[in-house]
Amino acid sequence: MPVEILNYQKKSLPLAWLRRKLEEALALLHIPDKEANFVFVDDETITHYNQFYLGRPYPTNVISFSQREGPFAGVQPRLLGDVLISVDTALREAELYGIPKRHYLLLLAVHGLLHLLGHEHERGRYAAKLMLDKEYAVMAQLLGEKARKTLNFLLRREYMPAKLAVNVDHVATVREARKVHYPDPVHAAVLAELGGAHGIVVHLREDRRHIQDRDVRLLREIVKTKLILEMAATEEMIKFAKEVRPDQVTLVPERRQEITTEGGLKVKGRTAKVREVVEELKEVGLKVSIFIDPDPQQLKAAAKTGADVVELHTGHYAEASGPEEMDLEFARLEEAARVAKDLGFEVHAGHGLHYHNISPVAAIPEIEEFSIGHAIVARAIMVGMKEAVREMLCLIERAR
Ligand code: PXP
Repeated sequence: MPVEILNYQKKSLPLAWLRRKLEEALALLHIPDKEANFVFVDDETITHYNQFYLGRPYPTNVISFSQREGPFAGVQPRLLGDVLISVDTALREAELYGIPKRHYLLLLAVHGLLHLLGHEHERGRYAAKLMLDKEYAVMAQLLGEKARKTLNFLLRREYMPAKLAVNVDHVATVREARKVHYPDPVHAAVLAELGGAHGIVVHLREDRRHIQDRDVRLLREIVKTKLILEMAATEEMIKFAKEVRPDQVTLVPERRQEITTEGGLKVKGRTAKVREVVEELKEVGLKVSIFIDPDPQQLKAAAKTGADVVELHTGHYAEASGPEEMDLEFARLEEAARVAKDLGFEVHAGHGLHYHNISPVAAIPEIEEFSIGHAIVARAIMVGMKEAVREMLCLIERAR
């Protein structure tokens, strides 16, 4: 039998349907004479395999074990290998993405099968694209147009994890508490980059409570990844940005009395004004982002400003007072990310994100980059900047 299904877990599964679809998949891939085993397990079992073979001590959705390489290669020439699927994780993710459970289980099985055939999305962006294209083609044939929602999910999906831009404002907060010259946010930025940060963020506030002009100028010289300047859309700041030329400007609202940025920029009703600022910055070649609440109305207004990026405000999600409110805010973020991507924006997110709340949002496929500051700087005091960045990156990378 070309498809062998082994069920080592307790939840009920559409096993006959899966077998039939997977046999069709082998035929579509022109390998009807090959064999593959699909093993359904729970989170505990897959964690054991993930730790033992890949050194990752947590559950995952699917792992493939090829029989075409390693010590047993060639023993059973028809057998491609084993695809291990955690039903616990699969059902959780299906719910999170709003996809029918059987479709998602089939998707994971096809994904695992493609790995057995040598596809590897972790090899790089192009390899990921080839694998995704193949996955889409197979799933479209197996499920047909009726499964548009599942197919759209695949179209939107990116295997590459989101990037992490580290905000070093609060290193400067510690310095300014004593008005001395240490700790230096410039040093912290170098260490954050060594820890794997994809960008460095600073917010030069009107009151200069933490980051100073000198910091931004030095960072412009030193940062090797990209420098993102958060700022209010004032004349003074626009002039400064045009002179220092960061890689990206993020426009944020600013109030003198606030402890930190409180909400997204209100674009609706002020589109022309915001567009003017965006145009002025873009004219000198700066990439412009707008920090915005996860609200489709604001997003639609932002689409008229010419901004390249929107950064979705995750503060309401992060500060939710209980699981119900958190679910609600998460759903708003998910929907906003989808709308923003459809409107053609590069989608970023940030504010209030922490080690304990990053994972669900890092799984939202449209979000390409996170901007995180306070949580990382706070942890860096205890474990060092490089380690604090690495730990956050590990959570982000593991989420997809
Ligand atoms: N994104 C924006 C637009 C911000 O204003 C801030 C705070 O400066 C952040 C992200 C980072 O927020 P946090 O320090 O809570 O991680």
